[in-house]
Amino acid sequence: MLAIESSCDETAAAVVESGRRVRASIVASQVDLHARYGGVVPEVASRQHLLKIRPVIEEALKRAGCTLDDIDAVAATRGPGLAGALLVGYNAGKAIAYGRNLPFLGVNHLEGHVYANWLIEGPEPRFPALCLVVSGGHTDLVLMRGHGQYERLGGTRDDAAGEAFDKVGRLLGLPFPGGPHVAKQAELGGPSALSLPRAWMHGTFDFSFSGLKTAVLHTVREGRFDTPTIAWEFQEAVVDVLAGKTSRLSRELGVAEVLVAGGVASNTRLREELRSRCPVPVRIPPPEYCTDNAAMIGAAAGFRLALGQRSPLDEDIFTTNDWDEASRFAPAAAAGV
Ligand code: KG4
Ligand code: ZN
Repeated sequence: MLAIESSCDETAAAVVESGRRVRASIVASQVDLHARYGGVVPEVASRQHLLKIRPVIEEALKRAGCTLDDIDAVAATRGPGLAGALLVGYNAGKAIAYGRNLPFLGVNHLEGHVYANWLIEGPEPRFPALCLVVSGGHTDLVLMRGHGQYERLGGTRDDAAGEAFDKVGRLLGLPFPGGPHVAKQAELGGPSALSLPRAWMHGTFDFSFSGLKTAVLHTVREGRFDTPTIAWEFQEAVVDVLAGKTSRLSRELGVAEVLVAGGVASNTRLREELRSRCPVPVRIPPPEYCTDNAAMIGAAAGFRLALGQRSPLDEDIFTTNDWDEASRFAPAAAAGV
């Protein structure tokens, strides 16, 4: 499977076998280009994808030690994401599939993040599973009853967890994207007199991070605490709520496993807290498959291909944030519960 990802600011291609074994995974990040704007500029991203898409695909094939002659199917991210960015990778994938007469699969980006868990060596994840998807654009708790079957049980009502990290990074004067930099600063900090709020949203499995972000703004303006101290307490507040709600829901549902996905899943404190609080095994992909990459798209497409699914070549990208879209081909026979 040749897989392509271009939903945001990484141009990525991968060669994946049977949806589980990565032969090559190439990610060309545009982060330096966007850094001076303090965020991703959609038009700049699209143009950069156009420049990078061919070299990135060629490099993935080369590293995998193969040519297009060895490829059996092509997959590309269909959404959600930036429309202009998605179009580049999606149309490149379609063109290769059309030119080579290969099956084509359009993949939901969020489903891709979840399937990064299938790239981990060893036994496959078991159903029913509770997925915590924490990225720059999403913070969702999703029950996965079987392959391709998703039910969203909670999620953020305002900022996504990654977005909160990025905004706090900006408030603290750290480089873009803030997430990894805030995490690094937090390692230098520790407990103090500073106590930031946790929005528990009692009675729901929803999240809210905008109040926490405002509290950080006031704390920075006050000037009483240094950057590591603020970063540490902010990270603890986010991790506390994410791990607390995920562990409680996994207990209530009696799931077999917890699957963590998305860029924020590479956060060390979140990984530790989820593992120590959840009553069931917690699976988290290695950091390079948590942030955007194409190997995860190849993993999600791999199981759909095995089920005989194909995407029509006249189908367009979609730009909604929608688990129903990911579930639309749900194979009933694969139901876990
Ligand atoms: O999944 P991803 O690569 O892109 C989206 O689909 O959004 O997630 C990117 C997000 C960014 O907000 C970034 O700051 C955050 O993941 N992130 C982190 C860490 N590494 C990446 N947040 C906290 N701690 C990290 N170590
Ligand atoms: Zn992503």
